[in-house]
Amino acid sequence: MSDSKQRSILITGCSQGGAGNALALQFASKGFRVFATARSLKTLANLHGKNIETLTLDVTDASSIKALAAEISSRTGGSLDILFNNAGTLYEAPAIEADPARVRALFNTNVFGLMEVTTALTPLLLASVSSGFSPIIVNVASILARVPNPFASAYNASKAAVAAYSDTLRLELQPLGLNVKTLYMGEVSTPLMAADNINFGPESIYHVVEDSVKARTNTHLAKTMAPAQFAREVADEVLSGKSATIWKGTNAFAVWFLNAVGPRNVFDSTVLKGVGLDKEEARSSIFKLGQTKAKKDAPGKGQSSQI
Ligand SMILES: NC(=O)c1ccc[n+]([C@@H]2O[C@H](COP(=O)([O-])OP(=O)(O)OC[C@H]3O[C@@H](n4cnc5c(N)ncnc54)[C@H](OP(=O)(O)O)[C@@H]3O)[C@@H](O)[C@H]2O)c1
Repeated sequence: MSDSKQRSILITGCSQGGAGNALALQFASKGFRVFATARSLKTLANLHGKNIETLTLDVTDASSIKALAAEISSRTGGSLDILFNNAGTLYEAPAIEADPARVRALFNTNVFGLMEVTTALTPLLLASVSSGFSPIIVNVASILARVPNPFASAYNASKAAVAAYSDTLRLELQPLGLNVKTLYMGEVSTPLMAADNINFGPESIYHVVEDSVKARTNTHLAKTMAPAQFAREVADEVLSGKSATIWKGTNAFAVWFLNAVGPRNVFDSTVLKGVGLDKEEARSSIFKLGQTKAKKDAPGKGQSSQI
């Protein structure tokens, strides 16, 4: 991006405190025309007066996506240079106890919403293609696409889906002159994770490790990269890096390396320890509760065959 034309970027999920908010400020400081979006303008208030245009977008709502694409088109004269698919949500629960409605809602935001935003904005990106410039789509996946972090199975799966979608999109859009990059985001201290959102409940067979899962969240918030630093590193990589993948955030490099050279179970002992599942006492309690549950409510238990 060496020409003097002011370039535009649309970033989803820019609420204050998060990575998208820091990215909006970072790209604005680099001279970009920034369209920062979130579900509510209230969460974008700190961006007002910073040369950033704020708009509402709910990525799970087709009419909201359509209205945003039309608004960006009318403001830019029908083009967009970078689409940064950052919006996302997290739901932590044991895989076999997760609320199906919350799992579907998570996939609607992290996966299907991201895909629909991409489809809706691609015509504007195509209009920016020129002999000296390839517009860019950045899709935010996570190191958890590769790390089996316990009690975040739906989230991990959604980010693996984003990674696979993004890498395939890259090949399909290459002949059209668009660049697609997958961001394997490491840990960043944002409001995404909150110990208050973790509630396995007293009936959970994993109740014994619930406090350790909450402690994992608190450690994450206290010890990981600040959004501003993350945004600086990511913006530089998006604008000058040649790679189709970006690994940034706390532990991103270590995960990239171990994932590349290690066996599939290379992360097991670390993530098990992270939630107390390495302790024999906890495992034994979980095993016993699992067997009690099997006796109590296994399908068909206590019923005579209907056949
Ligand atoms: N923080 C990390 O350690 C980490 C690691 C790997 C990947 N990530 C990914 O990084 C991205 C940014 O997350 P963050 O850490 O900065 O957390 P965050 O501060 O919670 O940001 C998430 C953003 O997504 C928005 N969002 C949620 N549902 C939406 C919807 N239906 N439509 C539009 N926007 C929606 C949120 O808006 P509301 O304020 O309205 O909820 C918020 O602006 C996410 O994709 C996340 O999965 C984060």
